Amino acid sequence: MCGIVGYIGKQKAAGIILEGLKRLEYRGYDSTGIAIWQDGHFAVAKKVGRVANLEPETAKHRFVGTCGMGHTRWATHGGVTDANAHPHVSSDGQIALIHNGVIENYSSMKKFLLDKGYTFKSETDTEVLCNLIAYHYAKEPESTDPDESRFVISVRKTLRHAEGTYGIVVMAADHPGELVTARKGSPLILGIGDGESLVASDVAAIVSRTQSVVYLKDGEIAHLKANTFSITTLTAGDVSPVIDKVTWSIADAELNGYAHFMEKEIFEQPLALENAMRGRFSEDGSTALFGGLNISANEFRGYDRFMFLACGTALHACMVTEHLIERFARVPVECDYASEFRYRNMPLFRNTLFFVMSQSGETIDTLGAMREAKRKGYKVLAINNVVGSTIAREADGGIYQHVGPEVGVASTKAFTSQLLIGAMLALYIGRMRDMSFSEGVEMVQALKRAPDLVRVALQQADHIRGIAQRYTQYRDMLFLGRLSLFPIALEGALKLKEISYIHAEGYPAAEMKHGPIALISEQCPSVFLVSSGEMFNKVVSSMQEIKARKGKVIAVCTESCKLPEGLADELIVIPECHEAVLPIVATIPVQLLSYYMAVELHRDVDKPRNLAKSVTVE
Ligand code: G6P
Repeated sequence: MCGIVGYIGKQKAAGIILEGLKRLEYRGYDSTGIAIWQDGHFAVAKKVGRVANLEPETAKHRFVGTCGMGHTRWATHGGVTDANAHPHVSSDGQIALIHNGVIENYSSMKKFLLDKGYTFKSETDTEVLCNLIAYHYAKEPESTDPDESRFVISVRKTLRHAEGTYGIVVMAADHPGELVTARKGSPLILGIGDGESLVASDVAAIVSRTQSVVYLKDGEIAHLKANTFSITTLTAGDVSPVIDKVTWSIADAELNGYAHFMEKEIFEQPLALENAMRGRFSEDGSTALFGGLNISANEFRGYDRFMFLACGTALHACMVTEHLIERFARVPVECDYASEFRYRNMPLFRNTLFFVMSQSGETIDTLGAMREAKRKGYKVLAINNVVGSTIAREADGGIYQHVGPEVGVASTKAFTSQLLIGAMLALYIGRMRDMSFSEGVEMVQALKRAPDLVRVALQQADHIRGIAQRYTQYRDMLFLGRLSLFPIALEGALKLKEISYIHAEGYPAAEMKHGPIALISEQCPSVFLVSSGEMFNKVVSSMQEIKARKGKVIAVCTESCKLPEGLADELIVIPECHEAVLPIVATIPVQLLSYYMAVELHRDVDKPRNLAKSVTVE
């Protein structure tokens, strides 16, 4: 949510910043802006829309400076206008600022600054923060300590008054060639290059220039120059930075011939699943192994209950995990929206282990829920994709998904890898309890076959594209499934509405007759997720209820399902598979269906309207 890039070095900054912004566009894309220090002032270009809209503006400015910063915005305070886009420059022209987050007490700050004669051009909380830094900067005498300059001190003084969340980068007129950056609740990563320093809200914007990074922590302020950097805290304490190495390269975040990142990431899933399971099965092939749990097997065995918290797609993965742990390990599991758990103060059982699931590891609702559980004395493990994310660092332990960068806003490969990890957890916990050796071996074999079964499911792509072309005129759709396929129905509906803007709802198939059936007509098709087994006949009955009301049926069925003749208008066959793998394989057709429908409708698949990949505000 909002992308930030800053650069300082020997090269012209503008090109590097624009390149970084393009890689961060998935974080917010309603407006963009850039500020470069040159010819003794801040040269600023801002434009509503995508980075591509900003490029002609930057050409007009002939940016040549070697220190600057840029921003992609996802509006919170103030509408989507050029004036509200970042960077903001203080009314005395001394400070420029970009910001990700929300300053909650900006009204009282603004009143104070208006009294002091500062003026405002935008409706944003960011411009207020920028002017407050300028106020302190104007008052502060220069210090003799180069690391503790008046620039750093004035940012620190300002942030002590700031309530809310922020990731900021600041430039100061009297300190050219320097950037100050600080965070509380919004991610920031420093890139330590050869004679250059960078800062960004995601590694993707940095990795083409350096793989050496420092993950800034909440409450830290970094002072960057081309050849050096130092980190202190809000209370002026020194910090010894740890430089990490990023393990992926820029090629992992490129389209490589695909039309969209979502398409690329759908087709990457066999490989992503292989990466997520690599090295994570025991030598005897009967259980799963996780290196980073930081909880002994004995302690794990002691938990009577598990609680999973997440948002959006990740919550659907938690719901499947709930089903699988209860089915295979016979331990009660509960799932909740992270945003609700955080505030509803539910009574909790003592012997409960918490899990939070988050692709980005930065979702503020999930982070807040994790902190709440920890505050109440519970251990929390995190299932994350982004290495070094805030949630990963604050958790007591966890499991990385290892699927590489996911760029498309609609989550695909991250989701199926979460389903895989959920199944592996069910196996791990099950094998500590009642699950036999042979059942464990059978499940491990089944999980190892998952990538190949996904490859088979992906072969239906052309067939699904044909179906998608026939269904784009509908404005409403239902997605229905039972047991572990119910969360996949929710996910199918979410994917469709996220990227095609067609209204869709997911329901347990039998629940459909308690309300949603009122929607059924020739104008509202239903996607059924069906597997052979105990629920088959019941799901067929639900399909018949839809057909009796002239609703069209798209059936996603495992191979051995024998549907009555004529019941399905469209049939998508997926391979037969183990119960633990079924949700993964059944996800592929619903991802492809929503992708192709969105493409047919000429939607901006990778950057759907109003959404952001990582939501770092409440
Ligand atoms: C946003 C995205 C969703 C995502 C959710 C949780 O709303 O648009 O696609 O599922 O955040 O993201 P996380 O990074 O926590 O998995």
